[in-house]
Amino acid sequence: MDRLAVIGDPIDRSLSPVMHNSTLREMGLGDEFVYEKIRVERDELEAFVQGLRDGDYHGANVTIPHKVEVMRYMDRLTDAVEKIGAVNTIYKENGMLVGDNTDHIGFIRSLKDEGVDVEDRHVTVIGAGGAARAIIYALLEGGAESILIANRTRENAVRIMERFDHLETQISVGGLDEVHGDILVNTTPLGMAGELENRSPIPVDRITPNVVAVDIVYDPPKTRFLKAAQKRGCKTVSGIGMLIYQGAVALEKWTGKKVPVDTMKEAVIRKMKDNIALIGFMGTGKSTVGVSLADSLGRDFIEVDELIEEKADKTIEKIFREDGEEHFRTLESEIIQDVCQKEDTVISCGGGVVLDRRNSNSLKKNAYVVLLTASTEEILRRLSEDSSRPLLRCENREERIKELLDDRSELYDDCAHITIDTSDRGIDSIVDEIIRRKEGWS
Ligand code: S3P
Repeated sequence: MDRLAVIGDPIDRSLSPVMHNSTLREMGLGDEFVYEKIRVERDELEAFVQGLRDGDYHGANVTIPHKVEVMRYMDRLTDAVEKIGAVNTIYKENGMLVGDNTDHIGFIRSLKDEGVDVEDRHVTVIGAGGAARAIIYALLEGGAESILIANRTRENAVRIMERFDHLETQISVGGLDEVHGDILVNTTPLGMAGELENRSPIPVDRITPNVVAVDIVYDPPKTRFLKAAQKRGCKTVSGIGMLIYQGAVALEKWTGKKVPVDTMKEAVIRKMKDNIALIGFMGTGKSTVGVSLADSLGRDFIEVDELIEEKADKTIEKIFREDGEEHFRTLESEIIQDVCQKEDTVISCGGGVVLDRRNSNSLKKNAYVVLLTASTEEILRRLSEDSSRPLLRCENREERIKELLDDRSELYDDCAHITIDTSDRGIDSIVDEIIRRKEGWS
């Protein structure tokens, strides 16, 4: 198994492991590569790179605070790195360590995805740190007409301006209240989840309705800056696209294969939403485990069946009897679409949710899906006192359960990220296993 890693300090909140591991699995390379996050302190950087060279790792991503420092340990730097002055991706070429930077490609591709071309446009880059350098490089490559570097401290902006040859593109510097142009790009951390969340990098009245507002912050996807721009009718582009494309280009270098970008995007969105959906046959413990799991994680808990009853204003049994199963399934699908908009929620689904592929696809995209199973005997035992299930109103319950399971087992498997057998197990141990495996899954 070849190891890949993102190194930095802090590194806990990095979305790269979940993004790369999901994509590697989708590419059929889940047994060949694993991607880890490793906290590397400044004085450990050289040793890490030596380990990489010696074969401990196949390649790596580098993030704050090592992007600049790591350059000196490389055997070769790409042209982009020479210009930008930072490495975010290391790969091996004939045994040599190559320091590359994929942030600038990620930036341009994410704009292209949104139909934004920087060629011949006037762009303001807000901020003059490391990220600004990659963005300016990308804008020069993309043929921007002019770049204004707007920063609180003028000297830093001037220093960046002087790094770049700018024959075709005019570069100038200015203050934060001088922002103008066709495209505004925030390269500062202002607006990022946490202490900086409520901050905008520029006075919001500088945002005019005709500009494209771009943020490289991805958490939250709609920063204060982007929200203000949206309110003024501007087109907005979040940092998620850049995160994904910089990762896709890196993964292409390491594997030599084309990368399914949509899978990367889904993994990132799923991780950011951080929902858990429980699916499985009646009597496999979805509700009981769900309540306890939500409690352990301090999350909201939602029971899809309850929402259906609320919506229809009658019990499930009555919906089946008066309106038929088809109507029930329509309501169920509508509720699934709604609950998939949630965040940080544990969602317990009805046993038949997987019968509609659209439900499964939505759940898979928006939640970590846990399939609970139990033996037929155990299901029979757990439901023996329960006469409220319309689908089990029949002579031979055992036969009926087996039939339904036969029809559904493949659908359950296709929808699930992991499967846990709940027969002969206590709730606490099931809850612990879900939490543990969800962490490891990323
Ligand atoms: C059903 C399962 C039930 C409920 C409805 C249909 C099914 O939910 O949605 O009776 O098709 O398996 P539980 O699995 O939560 O009992």
